[in-house]
Amino acid sequence: MKYLLLSLFISISVLHGGYMDNHACSECHEKIYEEFQQSQHARTYFNDELHRKIADAANEKKYACATCHMPAADNLKDLISGKARPDPQNKTHTDAISCYFCHTIAYVKKAHQFNINIKSRQAEGYKPTLYGRLNNPDESDKHSSVQNPVYAKNACTGCHSHKLNEQNVTIFHAMSKNQNSLSCIECHMAETEGGAEKMDKRARGHHASHRFPGIHDAAFRKKGVDINVTVQNDTLEVTLTNKMDHPLIIQPARAKFLKIVIKRGYKTLWQNYHTDPSEDPQGYFAYSFKKDGEKIIIPATATEGSAHNLGARAVAHLHYKIPKLLSGDTISVALYVQLAKSDCLKVIDLKDQSLRKPQLIKEIVKHF
Ligand code: HEC
Ligand code: HEC
Ligand code: HEC
Ligand code: HEC
Ligand code: HEC
Repeated sequence: MKYLLLSLFISISVLHGGYMDNHACSECHEKIYEEFQQSQHARTYFNDELHRKIADAANEKKYACATCHMPAADNLKDLISGKARPDPQNKTHTDAISCYFCHTIAYVKKAHQFNINIKSRQAEGYKPTLYGRLNNPDESDKHSSVQNPVYAKNACTGCHSHKLNEQNVTIFHAMSKNQNSLSCIECHMAETEGGAEKMDKRARGHHASHRFPGIHDAAFRKKGVDINVTVQNDTLEVTLTNKMDHPLIIQPARAKFLKIVIKRGYKTLWQNYHTDPSEDPQGYFAYSFKKDGEKIIIPATATEGSAHNLGARAVAHLHYKIPKLLSGDTISVALYVQLAKSDCLKVIDLKDQSLRKPQLIKEIVKHF
């Protein structure tokens, strides 16, 4: 029955039941709203300094990034073509990756440059229909609820799969063509306490967290990669195991790198780099771009791109020549993220220190 309703709504060609802003959801979905507000999905052109500065450096007039970063905009086409600019008074702009947007994705169309979220058409005069994965959702006077099986499969693929620039250069590639969203949801939307709605008439007692923890979360980011260390004669082997269903580097603004230090007492015996982590190319993971043969930083106009990356579920063995170790020497191997890599800092000016300074992902210390 519910499925029938769903197809009915998609095929009805009247536009459009009104947009419901994020705040309107907080009346009943308090907890989910609070989680969402702390998530990166609530970050937008106005409050994400890194995104805004790169967007302006890429193109001062057109805000083509809106497709994924401001997808609920009521004037999306004008933002993309440059007829309009992001407006801090417009809720469909400040809502960022909004509740209503995500919950009205009908399906995702695969495409070459990036995938396209196809929205459900809402029947005029009716309350909006929102999709989710609840069994037997309770009635609500603000919206109808429909279980949409397509939803769990495709909910993340519209924005997170891949992106090419206008010259066909890959800006990021996080998902393979037939990968679905189920595992993304399992890791990034773990079940947490409290019903899906404050009355919780169905006595569910738990819901899918909307905090979407990722690289910005110090506890969560420890879980992505395992680090193992072995020493044989004069060779140190560091094994990195990516446990995630996506590459280590998704976002070209970021770098992730290893800092390896071997100590004898207080004295540093050996380290993998001295001033800049990119001195150790095998331990420095990042994208790099060129335009007509010259290195460039902002990838929007790149004609070539490459990445030193660690693929989804992939294992890398890195080898380093080191001095002969004595019993008692310590080896520390730390994986760091720099949210805006040093190259980026050469072309944009960032006030937020946490974007500039490398942050620890995880560290292991071994006594020889
Ligand atoms: C096809 C969808 C898509 C488009 C178009 C897009 N992005 Fe993104 N962007 C994403 C996704 C998904 C993420 C989250 C990835 C991550 O954090 O690793 C992201 C994250 C970012 C981040 C990191 C934000 C932070 O605070 O950590 C920056 C910077 C960024 N994008 C810049 C841009 C700019 C500039 C444009 C337009 C020129 C743009 N993006 C267009 C999908 C897109
Ligand atoms: C007047 C209260 C109320 C408001 C306001 C409200 N909802 Fe709901 N919503 C409910 C109730 C009740 C349920 C059913 C919960 C259950 O069965 O546990 C629900 C269920 C849902 C579901 C699950 C649908 C499914 O089939 O799995 C989604 C998604 C949802 N709401 C999104 C939203 C969003 C997004 C907003 C804001 C745009 C919103 N709701 C505003 C009361 C409300
Ligand atoms: C096995 C758990 C797991 C799965 C499955 C998973 N992730 Fe992640 N993801 C993580 C962890 C842990 C991090 C933070 C560590 C890191 O980024 O190095 C992360 C980071 C991210 C980031 C930020 C990356 C960055 O550094 O900029 C994005 C975006 C993301 N995941 C999206 C997704 C999407 C989309 C999917 C589905 C294809 C997915 N994740 C599947 C565990 C997972
Ligand atoms: C990035 C996309 C995205 C955004 C943004 C988003 N949701 Fe969801 N939401 C999901 C997905 C995916 C699920 C299904 C998770 C599951 O059950 O596996 C879900 C589930 C739900 C449910 C059902 C609870 C459950 O346990 O399944 C409710 C209610 C809901 N969302 C409300 C909201 C509200 C309110 C907001 C904004 C404050 C919001 N969502 C923002 C993707 C999103
Ligand atoms: C409409 C586009 C869109 C959809 C759909 C979407 N995302 Fe995102 N997501 C983004 C953008 C854009 C960002 C980066 C926002 C920023 O940092 O400014 C992001 C950020 C994230 C991050 C935070 C990464 C970090 O920096 O730590 C995670 C985790 C994530 N998304 C997971 C998901 C999952 C899981 C789904 C599917 C349920 C999903 N997203 C659906 C656009 C989207």
